[in-house]
Amino acid sequence: MERCLVLIKPDAMQRGLAGTIISRLEKHGLKLVALKMLLVDKTLAKQLYAIHTGKPFFDGLVNYISSSPIIAAVFEGEEAVSRIRKLMGATDPAQAEAGTIRGDFGLDIERNSIHGSDSVENAERESKLFFSENEIFSY
Ligand code: RTP
Ligand code: MG
Repeated sequence: MERCLVLIKPDAMQRGLAGTIISRLEKHGLKLVALKMLLVDKTLAKQLYAIHTGKPFFDGLVNYISSSPIIAAVFEGEEAVSRIRKLMGATDPAQAEAGTIRGDFGLDIERNSIHGSDSVENAERESKLFFSENEIFSY
């Protein structure tokens, strides 16, 4: 069964949208198998976004994700990665369709409410940054 790392970003946390976002994913049949709230430090932020190192938005991205507490979660389901990416909507909320999480809640390209892994390989890598084996459940 496929798994995908999801982060509820600072803007969504600050507006009390964590439950709403988790609920949307659950309602689409995705199963919550790991969950924690944390303040991401700069080291973890740089590891998470390593693929974007050197890009013009990298420093802003690292500062943003570590600016305020977030929720990290792993969801499980068939085609979890592609289904979650579809439910998230486009990276830029201005381009995201209504009914998607970013389309409905995102504020701008940085404050876009949710992160979801973009491939099965990255889901595996990213999940390990936030959770140990015994924190990801099978039930
Ligand atoms: P995420 O990783 O957060 O789930 O978002 P994504 O896959 O849709 O987008 P990605 O290309 O991986 O970019 C990661 C985050 O970087 C910020 N970004 N800013 N200013 C820009 O052109 C720009 N491009 C990307 C966004 O906050 C995006 O979520
Ligand atoms: Mg990404």
